[in-house]
Amino acid sequence: MTTAMFSRAVIRATGAYLPAKILTNADLAQMVDTSDEWIVQRSGIKSRHIAAKDETTGDMATAAGRMALERGGLNAGDIDTVIVATTTPDQTFPAVAVQVQDRLGIPAGAAFDVQAVCSGFIYGLGVANSFIRTGQARRVLLIGAEKMSSIVDWTDRTTCVLFADGAGAVVLEAGEEGDRGVHSVHLHAKGAQREMLYTNGGPSTTRTSGHIVMHGREVFKYAVNYMAEVVNEALAHNKVKAQDIDWLVPHQANIRIIEATAEKLHLPLSKVVVTVERHGNTSAASIPLALHEAVADGRIKPGHLVLLEAMGGGFTWGAALVRM
Ligand code: UT7
Repeated sequence: MTTAMFSRAVIRATGAYLPAKILTNADLAQMVDTSDEWIVQRSGIKSRHIAAKDETTGDMATAAGRMALERGGLNAGDIDTVIVATTTPDQTFPAVAVQVQDRLGIPAGAAFDVQAVCSGFIYGLGVANSFIRTGQARRVLLIGAEKMSSIVDWTDRTTCVLFADGAGAVVLEAGEEGDRGVHSVHLHAKGAQREMLYTNGGPSTTRTSGHIVMHGREVFKYAVNYMAEVVNEALAHNKVKAQDIDWLVPHQANIRIIEATAEKLHLPLSKVVVTVERHGNTSAASIPLALHEAVADGRIKPGHLVLLEAMGGGFTWGAALVRM
């Protein structure tokens, strides 16, 4: 372990995995008292991917991680740290990250999970950035992976129409001196608000994983305010104006929250990566899935300035400014 200070943690490559099965709003209308019209109007979601019964968070994380290595032209031995942001691990322990390490053949280094629900990817980015900047890691595989379908109450129409499954990954590495890389990460939590969005179970209480309970209207209001606050914090910290941002890659919970954040920044929607209509809310996976999609289709290019932001249960929230 060295204590060398590197200028920045640079995103070298991205990867993603979405389960084959697509669940449409029409399918949901057969299951609970809802309609395509309500879901689209209130959330912007039209369809979402749902994992197969025997398909796990670990499977999806491994697939997304493998793609990020391939796209980065990297071997397993090039990675020295694996971090998985997830709320829906395969087991209470060990961490999904150690499974990914083993299945990708990564021979050594640290591997652990980060739990900050929908903000998990930003929290993981904060950890990875600190590890790289302090020389504790040289190349980190950071994955956001969720099987939210496994903790949704499929009889609760207020939540089951929103959440979905998938995984996204990035490889972060110590960069040369220069502007590319993570400029800053800003993380917040307010535990006093943890009863707004939670699961009604867990290992040390019910000995089950529990189901999602959400006070949607209240969460919505806090999400809009916290997200606007934290993106402004990230911009002010870096002395950057909203107009200088090439892309906003927000957590994909609700198109109305995304639009409200963009509006507060005076950013046109053409500069916002939106996947919520096809992905739903994949919690910690939503940002890396959206980032990968826009990198892979050529919208996000090397040199672009990208602002990432999320808010989730806890409450937790955060933002990061990254030069690709
Ligand atoms: O990712 C972590 C952070 N999570 C979020 O950011 C989610 C934040 N919240 C939201 O996105 C929105 O609050 C929801 C999409 C969850 C709900 O939208 P809303 O406009 O806040 O609706 P609401 O909860 O105020 O409900 C309006 C009505 C209610 O009926 P009444 O009381 O007005 O008669 C609900 O019972 O809609 C009803 N409703 C539904 N109707 C049809 C709730 N769920 C459904 C449904 N289909 N699936």
